[in-house]
Amino acid sequence: MPMVNMKPLLRDAMEKHYAVAAFNLVDYGTTKAMVQAAEELNAPVICQTSAKTIKYWSHKEIVSWVRTAAEDSPVPVVLHLDHCKDIEMIEACAKAGWTSIMIDASEYPFEQNLEMSKRVRDIAEKYNVGMEAELGQIMGVEDDMVVDEADSVLTDPEDAKRFCEALDLSAFACAVGTAHGFYKGEPVVDFDRIAAINSLTKTPMALHGGTGLSDETFAKAIARGAAKVNISTNLKHVFVESFVNYHKEKPTDFEPLRVIDAQYQACKSLFAGFIEKFGGKDRGSAFLASIKEAA
Ligand code: 13P
Repeated sequence: MPMVNMKPLLRDAMEKHYAVAAFNLVDYGTTKAMVQAAEELNAPVICQTSAKTIKYWSHKEIVSWVRTAAEDSPVPVVLHLDHCKDIEMIEACAKAGWTSIMIDASEYPFEQNLEMSKRVRDIAEKYNVGMEAELGQIMGVEDDMVVDEADSVLTDPEDAKRFCEALDLSAFACAVGTAHGFYKGEPVVDFDRIAAINSLTKTPMALHGGTGLSDETFAKAIARGAAKVNISTNLKHVFVESFVNYHKEKPTDFEPLRVIDAQYQACKSLFAGFIEKFGGKDRGSAFLASIKEAA
């Protein structure tokens, strides 16, 4: 089926207390594997792209992969742009066929962040796509962005309310103690802050920095309003390790299709594990029936 807008999907997730898994795709194989994992579980999925990945492949190629994988599938699939600071690139994504876009102007003071995010809201409205924006600064390394622990700022719930009221977001990215990349120690996630932000904003929260969080942390965050959970670093590792390990185990096998299939299966099982953990199983067809009924 055609790709879906992220907004109604994340509203469904927030209301029903599950979260949609969002994975940062690498290539066509990982795209296909995430959609197939979702399909086997009758779950929705978000295929998201970093700006770096788009610059590597091009808008045209990425949209064609996700469109192809989604069109052949009965489950809801979103193509989302992860952290982007460049408004021209954001508009190019909406124009090319992304069904959700993100502006990350979180490094700027509140008013400037809001002003830039409003410009992106106008783009999202023009192309009828979903939108995510960020307030507060999430620690760690994502794409070419680095936020040190000392510079990270947890999101203030009252500011979050003002920000979300002005933007009508599909997903609100905020800093609640999680970090991009592997955790060095035990992460200190501020669950009270998640609950406070959600009760004031009533906006589905995007939980960034999913790699390395415990099952209990996921469950508690989802119960308090996290409706989208991002996973990237974990995929990067499985992507490389599955390829390398296959060759180590079978050093004389130079059939590329067997090597990439080992990688595909490893990535697919990683995706399926997270989708199930976030409560996405069996939500796909029910969501599609609900939007059909509302139309
Ligand atoms: P991880 O790399 O920690 O999984 O975080 C991904 C993310 O939040 C992408 O925006």
